[in-house]
Amino acid sequence: MKNICVVGTGYVGLTTGVCFADLGHSVTCIEIDLHKLELLRSGKSPIFEPGLEELQERNMRAGRLRFTDDYAVGIPDAEFIFITVGTPMGEDGSADLTYVKAAARSIGQYLRSGSIIIDKSTVPVGTGDMVENIIAEYAGPDVKFDVVSNPEFLREGSALSDFFKPDRIVLGAKNREAAQRVAALHETLGAPIIITDLRTAEMIKYASNAFLATRISFINEIAQICERLGADVREVARGMGADKRIGPHFLEAGVGYGGSCFPKDVLALYHMAASAGCHPQLLQAVMDINSDARKRFVKKVETVLGDLEGRVIGVLGLSFKPNTDDMREAPSVDIINSLLKKGARVKAYDPVAMARAEELLPTVTFTATAYDVAKDADALLLVTEWNEFKQLDWQRIKRYMRQPVVIDGRNLYDPREMRNLGFIYWGVGRGEAPVPIMEEAQNIGD
Ligand code: UDX
Repeated sequence: MKNICVVGTGYVGLTTGVCFADLGHSVTCIEIDLHKLELLRSGKSPIFEPGLEELQERNMRAGRLRFTDDYAVGIPDAEFIFITVGTPMGEDGSADLTYVKAAARSIGQYLRSGSIIIDKSTVPVGTGDMVENIIAEYAGPDVKFDVVSNPEFLREGSALSDFFKPDRIVLGAKNREAAQRVAALHETLGAPIIITDLRTAEMIKYASNAFLATRISFINEIAQICERLGADVREVARGMGADKRIGPHFLEAGVGYGGSCFPKDVLALYHMAASAGCHPQLLQAVMDINSDARKRFVKKVETVLGDLEGRVIGVLGLSFKPNTDDMREAPSVDIINSLLKKGARVKAYDPVAMARAEELLPTVTFTATAYDVAKDADALLLVTEWNEFKQLDWQRIKRYMRQPVVIDGRNLYDPREMRNLGFIYWGVGRGEAPVPIMEEAQNIGD
């Protein structure tokens, strides 16, 4: 059993704290937002993540997990201190390190010799060195400590299984022995451990996320070409993915990537590269293709319906992906704002993200079920592929709609089945486009 302190209880921090407690360690999480702290102390999770709240409650009851706003309580006895504070996108697109710096200062004030500070927040290359300098300044020359970079690869919606069954653990440090102590902490997970220097570990995180984002933009570009040439991008991805060198993951075409990581990390890497004198052409293309995917989706609605003024559009799914209530950089927000700007009225439904979506989209009507969204709608748009949208009663939906138009931004439905059911259906990159139903609609495709 080790004493662990986790600074910051966002997605990564809370998951890390709860899961280490579940592995039998004694964990103190520091959270300075008092509203959040109160919630956490009552056994509630401020975020929606399947299984997390149950595990949090169980480990609190077992006495292995506690929450405080006081660094003096969490830091002095901790052998391992994880920094998991937010690194939001700064105004110029680079990562804002305000919270990381503040955490380093506070840790430095209470640190005792022999501790390891582990940077888990996604931070620009070189931040580990900066954290080390800040802590050294505040801790004074007699306190000996190490800094290790340990980037996280948790996906929202499957954060627990990603923690307990990681593909790899990356540890970067100046002092290899410190990295090995952190490796020992992860031993029970049985994952391959990659030990590098600090800056390389920081870069692995950015390069991994940028590569996954590149795969998504690549397949979205292929989807566009498929649509024009009459091929089916899902089959193309299947055929490509069977090649071991390519692999099947992250080749789903759609309305593009969103969330708290990919958009922020690709942009931050772009900025790091540019300020180091590089010309990151591929990263620029990845970002451009991603924002075009949202625009193309709205264009499809216009192609089918013509002028959107006064049209009623139903939207299924709002969160940036299923199994989360996270609305950060969700494609739905850009898509809906663009529809509203073109004069459409928008109704929307999401199984868990509506409370968060209401703050971002105040003029949208949120409905209690997927079926209510369809009522009097001129078109139904599938934006997030929640499981509950897979098996809808389409006859019922068709009866409710003003006209049976379904535009599928995630290729959740079978084009032939939808057309057999009498829908005008348009997916992403799956052969031919439907015939526009409005006379004024021209130029099918882009
Ligand atoms: C991501 C990384 O996967 C994780 O390793 C990292 O540390 C944090 O960022 P997350 O943002 O939770 O995780 O979601 P992820 O499942 O990776 O999906 C990101 C976005 O890409 C979503 O908007 C999703 O809809 C989109 N996506 C994903 C696609 O459009 N196509 C795909 O094939 C896969």
